[in-house]
Amino acid sequence: METLTYSHNAQAAQILAAYYETPPLAYVHSYGCQQNVNDGEKLRGVLMDVGFGICDNVEQADLILFNTCAVREHAEQRVFGNIGALKKLKQSNPRLIIGVCGCMAQQPHIVEKLRQSYPYVDLVFGVDGIDRLPAMLAQRISRGKRYLETPASRNAVVEELPIRRDSGFRAWLPIMYGCDNFCTYCIVPYVRGRERSREPEAILAEFRELVTKGYKEITLLGQNVNSYGKGLSRAIDFADLVNLLCEVEGDYQIRFMTSHPKDASRKLLDTIAAQPHLCKHIHLPVQSGSDRLLKEMNRHYTVAQYLELVDYARQQIPGVTFSSDIIVGFPGETEEDFEKTLELVRKVGYMQLFTFIYSKRSGTKAAELPDPTTHAEKAARMERLLKTQDEIAFAAVAAMAGQTVRVLVEAAGRTPGTVNGRLDNNLVVEFPADETLIGSWATVRLTGSRAALLVGTLCNVEGE
Ligand code: 5AD
Ligand code: SF4
Repeated sequence: METLTYSHNAQAAQILAAYYETPPLAYVHSYGCQQNVNDGEKLRGVLMDVGFGICDNVEQADLILFNTCAVREHAEQRVFGNIGALKKLKQSNPRLIIGVCGCMAQQPHIVEKLRQSYPYVDLVFGVDGIDRLPAMLAQRISRGKRYLETPASRNAVVEELPIRRDSGFRAWLPIMYGCDNFCTYCIVPYVRGRERSREPEAILAEFRELVTKGYKEITLLGQNVNSYGKGLSRAIDFADLVNLLCEVEGDYQIRFMTSHPKDASRKLLDTIAAQPHLCKHIHLPVQSGSDRLLKEMNRHYTVAQYLELVDYARQQIPGVTFSSDIIVGFPGETEEDFEKTLELVRKVGYMQLFTFIYSKRSGTKAAELPDPTTHAEKAARMERLLKTQDEIAFAAVAAMAGQTVRVLVEAAGRTPGTVNGRLDNNLVVEFPADETLIGSWATVRLTGSRAALLVGTLCNVEGE
């Protein structure tokens, strides 16, 4: 694996300045996971480094970039729909540059489709192109031809990319890229390439900078954070990394995602218990409650092993909550398999579930399996799962009433005159307060709940 360092591309900046009559504006939209959102922040940073301003509507933009997700077919269709809607804009402004990048653009059949059916898309590049974006734009402009990259994975980590973060108090911090797990349904290892860990020094430097700038919540990102450190010259695992980061002084909290149950160690759970900076919430995707399907999915754990982990965490970490991802309708899922998933969901008592109907991804192993269950049956199973989960979560949330908790105020609430604050355990409370509180710590008394949302009243705001 190679580590590269970003450097400013003065030549590309000149070509761009000459091409646009007024300082150009870029619109960057990211689909999908937090890793992609973080890549979007870097795409914006790199564009600003070569003279772009950032805008948030396509009509104003001189450059439109869709940073795409390939994890499910539905996400891909949405991107194609949104690209289709840009055709008119391109006709009225021939200087407009339209780019498609990210996970979808790592798939040769998608690049082919863009080449043939979307001639007004100027630029196509995959997940490894962020640092080279200025050079690609310059090439598109100076040659006057579309620039479509054949997807390749270059197995590198690029440090010191400029970044324009969306928030001033919550930040994403990738600690590793790629995935080596090859769960049989998943396209990620094909599009994001092999697992690469960042050097701990680089992570620590970025972390320190965030804390110094006043960021209050830092989320460590990786497809499988629990296998952090493999391939580095120094022996270090995820728990060691977290302990290293927690030595930095400041008033911040750390979240992380995603943990793969097969690698979630007792050492990590002990670290969560011991470190006050770590949120007491674990996103631990189980995918299915059937051992037979877990095997077919290549997940490398059994339901019993998963439950053991949950039990251990509950013993060590008072108040810990869990969330999970579940796939409904994996090829060959029987009614019996599905009922085992319901049973597991009841046993664990997740606070939140992210549920997905299986989506066939070409190139993955599961795509070759017979899948006789109809979509209607899968949708009916999904309804049952959601109903089961709602019953559990609504009751658990309601039971929290009466507690006084510390929250990070993160957004305006749905009800006018309220804001939303996130608890350590990842639940959200809505309470009457002014929006100027967004980004502050507050203490809130929980008075009740509406579905999975807590409601409360403000006790006090820190720093006032
Ligand atoms: N179909 C449905 N859901 C999927 N996921 C990943 N691949 C697929 C697929 N082909 C889900 C998994 C994963 C989450 C990020 O997306 O549950 O944990
Ligand atoms: Fe996909 Fe499995 Fe890797 Fe997660 S761990 S990105 S589900 S292959």
